[in-house]
Amino acid sequence: MDVIGNGFRRAAYSAGTTARVGWYTMHYLAGRHVVGPITSPGNVPKPMKSSPPDLAELRDSFRDLFRREWNDIAKGTYKLPRDLRRAPNPWRLIRNGRDYLREAKMVSRRAHTRGGGVEVRANRRGDLPGYYQQNFHFQSDGWLSDDSARIYDTQVETLFTGAGDAMRRRALPYLKRELDRLAAAGRGQDEVVFADIGCGTGRLLVDVADNFPELRMHAVDLSENYLNTTRRATSFSDRIVYTQAPAERLPYADGSVDIIASVYLFHELPPKVRREVAAEFARVLRPGGLYLHLDSVQYGDTGLDILLETFPRVLHEPYYESYCNTALPDLFAPAGLAPEGQEVGFLTKTSAFRKAS
Ligand SMILES: C[S@@+](CC[C@H](N)C(=O)[O-])C[C@H]1O[C@@H](n2cnc3c(N)ncnc32)[C@H](O)[C@@H]1O
Repeated sequence: MDVIGNGFRRAAYSAGTTARVGWYTMHYLAGRHVVGPITSPGNVPKPMKSSPPDLAELRDSFRDLFRREWNDIAKGTYKLPRDLRRAPNPWRLIRNGRDYLREAKMVSRRAHTRGGGVEVRANRRGDLPGYYQQNFHFQSDGWLSDDSARIYDTQVETLFTGAGDAMRRRALPYLKRELDRLAAAGRGQDEVVFADIGCGTGRLLVDVADNFPELRMHAVDLSENYLNTTRRATSFSDRIVYTQAPAERLPYADGSVDIIASVYLFHELPPKVRREVAAEFARVLRPGGLYLHLDSVQYGDTGLDILLETFPRVLHEPYYESYCNTALPDLFAPAGLAPEGQEVGFLTKTSAFRKAS
């Protein structure tokens, strides 16, 4: 990699990530102001079991995420992210910020309303599972509207003060290693099937398609609205098939997918459905196939357990607490997926699992 090229890339990376972190930190502070106190007046908050957060650890793990990402870019493991190579659209950023704050008021209202957490849409749909039709995070319309899909990325980046995409991209080094391994065995990228299940608005797929454009990619989500957002975000690729389907009943033949990824899907699923999805992933993976599981860090992974305890008290996250207490090998091993390494990147853990050959 040439020194001058890397110098430019480093400058672009630093400037881009600094601007991004600043922008979403401003949203975070403005959102806190709009939302106000977490507990309703007169309610005594339940005492916390975990110790107070170690703020130095929080800051260091945040910086370490970007440091590791830069090292991967400098080594050529993956490209300077697409978003940082292009000037952002200021009007879109401002509009999304405004809508984020409007929605924060609605979120706050539901958080302080008894039953606000299980409010389902008036037009409940018989073709979707009941557990799915909740306003997760107290967001308006749950997963089921274009407005929800449009605000989602700003909500995630604000929650993680600009680190959301960088955390998702911790999947890319694993993906690159797997593709190199398959290439050494004579299978080029254009023969490899990759599926992002619960793809949401397509944030991981944008980076996958940007870096590995020849892959045969599949985007799956149960929300048509989120899937349409993925379609627009990845329109630069003609190699992606978009499918609305439940993760627990994928429309793929046994052993037909080489690599599956899921990001922030499992903590949204009831425990029984988690086991069904684990079995379904094992069914559709080829023997020897790889599953990349990205989701929240869990209890004991960091010294920041109190954040995990706080999250479901602030936002409607009915299955988060049980997810954070689930040992991932206990979830995936019975399905036939054996653990093969993991990495914590700020508040997200990437865990790799392999189906036996
Ligand atoms: C927290 S979002 C994560 C989205 C995306 N992977 C990301 O990185 O931001 C969870 C996504 O999973 C989808 N989802 C939830 N339950 C699902 C299920 N049973 N089958 C398929 N998708 C599901 C939701 O529609 C939503 O888009």
